[in-house]
Amino acid sequence: MGDTLGPGSVLAGGRYRIEEKLGSGGMADVYRACDTELARMVALKAMRPGLSSEEGYPARFRREAQAMAALNHPHVVAVHDMGDEPVPFIVMELIQGGSLADLLGAGRPVPVAQALGLASQVLAGLAVAHAHGLVHRDIKPGNVLLAADGSAKVADFGIARAAEGAGTVLTRTGRLVGTPSFMSPEQVLGRPDIDGRSDLYSVGVMLFQMITGRLPFEADSGYAIGYLHLTAPPPTLASMGVAAGPAVEAVVARALAKDPAQRYPDAASMRAALQEPAPTGSARQPGLVPPRPTRPPLATAPRSPLSRARRLHLAQALVLLAWVLVAQAEWGWLVVPVVLGGFVAGVPGLWVSCSAVARRSRPLSRIGKIKATVAIAMHGGVVLSLTTGIVAALMSSSGL
Ligand SMILES: Nc1ncnc2c1ncn2[C@@H]1O[C@H](COP(=O)(O)OP(=O)(O)O)[C@@H](O)[C@H]1O
Ligand SMILES: [Mg+2]
Repeated sequence: MGDTLGPGSVLAGGRYRIEEKLGSGGMADVYRACDTELARMVALKAMRPGLSSEEGYPARFRREAQAMAALNHPHVVAVHDMGDEPVPFIVMELIQGGSLADLLGAGRPVPVAQALGLASQVLAGLAVAHAHGLVHRDIKPGNVLLAADGSAKVADFGIARAAEGAGTVLTRTGRLVGTPSFMSPEQVLGRPDIDGRSDLYSVGVMLFQMITGRLPFEADSGYAIGYLHLTAPPPTLASMGVAAGPAVEAVVARALAKDPAQRYPDAASMRAALQEPAPTGSARQPGLVPPRPTRPPLATAPRSPLSRARRLHLAQALVLLAWVLVAQAEWGWLVVPVVLGGFVAGVPGLWVSCSAVARRSRPLSRIGKIKATVAIAMHGGVVLSLTTGIVAALMSSSGL
C-alpha cells in the first residue's frame, strides 16, 4: 500500500504536500499539509500504510469522509476532499488549537463555565450528526478539536454509524471499538440498537473530566472500566472536590444514567439544560474548591468519616506525646497505662483503615492507594511497637 508518509510526501498527483505530523490514532496519521492548488493549509488524515483492506479499513475511511462531509456545521470539522493515492486519505479544515485532550493534559481541569461552553458546542455538533441519523460512538477529548478562538469542533467520525441497525461494537478480531472510559453502558454491552443518547453519555463523561480533571470510572483494564460503566453509580462532582452547583450536578448525573431512557432524549435538550443553569449558590464563581483533596481516600462511610478519623488521630498524637514524656522520665510507672492507651488507639485505627479499603466499591486511585498503604502501615506500626512495649514492660516487671 505504498511507502510511509512524512514531511515532503505528496498525494493526489502532487496537489497535497505533507509538512508535519499533527497526531495519530487507531488507524490513521494526521498531518498538516499544503493544498498547492488552493494555496492553503489543510489537515490531511491518511490511513496508516499496511492496514489490511480485508478488515474493511479503506471502506471505513470512505464512510468517515462521507459522514463528515454530510454535516456542515461550525462545531463539526469540515471535510474538503478525499482520495486513495497512495493511501486512502481525507482532507479537512486545519484546526489550530490542538485537541481537548491536550488542553486537559495530565488531569488538569478547566473552569466550570468553560467546560459547560465546550460541552454545549460539542452537543450542537452532535445534534446535527444525530439529525442525519449518525451516532458518533467515540466522543472523547482526543476527538474534540479546539479552533484558534477556543471553540470546539467534533472530529473523527471513524466509527460513526447509522443509528438504526448500528451493528456490533466488536471488530472481527473481537476487539472493542471505542474508548472504554467514555463508552455508554449499551455500547459496552455491544447492543445493536444504540442511538444518539449513547453519545450524550460520552459527553457526560467528558464534562465530568473537564470539570474535575478525573474520569468518573477508573480501573486497570478496559474491561474493568466497562464493568464500572455497567454497574457502579457515577460519583458526584462534589465528591471529587468541585462545587459546581446542583444544576450542573443534575445535568452530569442525568447524562450518566445507565438507562438511556433516563438521559436527555436528545442533544438539543441536554444543551438547553447546560445553558440554563447559572450555577447556583454563593457569590463565588463556580469552580474548584481546593484542587482535589476533599475525597477521603479511605472513606466510604456515610456521615462524618473525617471527624471520626480526626478524633482518632488526635488521640494517637496525645498518646505519642505522653509516650515521649514517659520515656523522658525514664520509664516511670506511667508507662503501662500509656502503652495500653496507645494500643487501644492503634487497633481501631488499623481496623478502620483496613475495613474502609475492603468496603470500597470503586477502585482506589493511585494517590488513594498510597494514602491507604501509609495509613495501614502507620497504624500497624503503632500497634506493633506498642505490643512490643507491653511485652517488654511485662517481662521487666516480672524480672525476666
Ligand atoms: N482537522 C484537524 N486539524 C488539526 N489536527 C487534527 C485534525 N484532525 C485530527 N487532528 C489531530 O490528529 C489526532 C487524531 O485524529 P483523529 O481524527 O482522531 O484520528 P484517529 O481516527 O486515528 O483517532 C487528533 O487528536 C488531533 O490531534
Ligand atoms: Mg481519534
